[in-house]
Amino acid sequence: MGEMDGLTVTECTKCPDLVACRSQIVNGVGPADADILFVGEGPGAQEDEQGEPFVGRSGTVLSDTLRDVGLEREIVRITNCVRCRPPDNRNPRKEELANCREYLEKEIDRVDPELIVTLGKVPSEHLLGRSVAVTSEAGSLVDKAIAGKPRRILISVHPAATLYDRSQTDTFVETLTKAAEFTTDTGGQKRLGDF
Ligand code: URA
Repeated sequence: MGEMDGLTVTECTKCPDLVACRSQIVNGVGPADADILFVGEGPGAQEDEQGEPFVGRSGTVLSDTLRDVGLEREIVRITNCVRCRPPDNRNPRKEELANCREYLEKEIDRVDPELIVTLGKVPSEHLLGRSVAVTSEAGSLVDKAIAGKPRRILISVHPAATLYDRSQTDTFVETLTKAAEFTTDTGGQKRLGDF
């Protein structure tokens, strides 16, 4: 295992099935001090090829929606529950999620975000530690301790859900609007404190 700076994993062979299929480890992107951390499930084919989370079709939906709600992709941090592509785009297995958990927790610690947005069922359940009905719970803010520190989590549908079911688009936009408002509020408080 090679891990530097709390953010970047340079080598890891904990998950044999993933190691056999991956092109590379896909680390998170975005500022190390971002206010918002988006957490997806795991890299897909495009992400595995380019070495960056959310650069395929889901990534286009995410970037476009971020822009629409006034949050540029460049100012948020984006990562995944697992950093290596599961073969055939299957969901990451329990043990794979567990193997990668320490990297995610270190990233959360290092970034220390005001808000974590979980994109879809897998990251929502992984971080909340319970089953989550994302479609009905999307937009909910939940406080949860992660690695011993209280964190605020906003549950979201996965951006890919909007591609299969157009009715999910409104839910996704509303949730990201809430994320944008949340940080605007925080920024307002910070500015007041500056005076
Ligand atoms: N879906 C995810 O959950 N993560 C990615 O990085 C890309 C697609």
